[in-house]
Amino acid sequence: MSGVTHAGRLALVTGGSRGIGRAVARQLAADGADLVLVDRSGDPDGPAVREIRELGRQCRHFRCDISDPKAVAELATRVVAEAGPVTILVNNAGLTRDNLFLRLDESDWDVVLGVNLKGAFHCIKSFSRGMLKEKWGRVINVTSVVGLMGNKGQANYAASKAGLVGLTLSVARELAERGITVNAVAPGFIATDMTGVLPESVQQELHRQIPLGRIGQPEEVAGLVSFLASEQASYITGQVIRIDGGMLMG
Ligand code: NAI
Repeated sequence: MSGVTHAGRLALVTGGSRGIGRAVARQLAADGADLVLVDRSGDPDGPAVREIRELGRQCRHFRCDISDPKAVAELATRVVAEAGPVTILVNNAGLTRDNLFLRLDESDWDVVLGVNLKGAFHCIKSFSRGMLKEKWGRVINVTSVVGLMGNKGQANYAASKAGLVGLTLSVARELAERGITVNAVAPGFIATDMTGVLPESVQQELHRQIPLGRIGQPEEVAGLVSFLASEQASYITGQVIRIDGGMLMG
């Protein structure tokens, strides 16, 4: 337990079967929430689902491509019918299609913006309905320090993550008076499959750029997300909280 409680709440985490999303889902469950995990693939009875059930919480897994607005709307109908209203939404699903800008083609742009930015838009639209009815909600968008500082070879990814910041700030303003907070977390480099594919030399160079001298762990991001999802974070909205070992300061 992290000292916060989500007892009686239903949380939905996109990309919740692995990496940061899996750690977030596990932490939310450890702090008392029931969970819905949404992934493009993933196993409805896979290890991410089982570990949450072992914590004594309910957990359902749905396959859905969040870049498809019709699929997300249908998902929302099913989730509400089977599990009830979602009051904690973590927009975590994301992907990269890295290339130097001059070599980046339009499909690399569209797929990354489609999932990372439009996917979050579709999910907030569909799942905020339950929050509006409950007059309580938490939306946490997983952006990246790359969206705040840029990165060579990641123009599409950085644009999607910077877009997510603008989406966070605007929706936070619109939903504030309805009891819903909307924040973003901006991780630096975190040990997951996404960063595991980077060559050793790139990883060493990254370590040199991190004042704390190491890559972060998914559980460290999860603790922050669970706090932002809690009642204790009720006066925090429209913030982008960096969790990056000090990579980007000030
Ligand atoms: P990952 O690659 O391990 O997991 C991504 C998850 O997103 C997977 O479960 C995948 O099924 C899901 N996903 C991808 N496309 C989808 C779609 N169209 N519909 C539904 N689900 C989809 O990634 P990781 O590292 O756990 O990253 C999670 C989030 O954190 C991403 O948004 C990423 O951009 C962000 N992030 C990661 C950092 C890192 O160093 N790992 C640093 C900063 C941000």
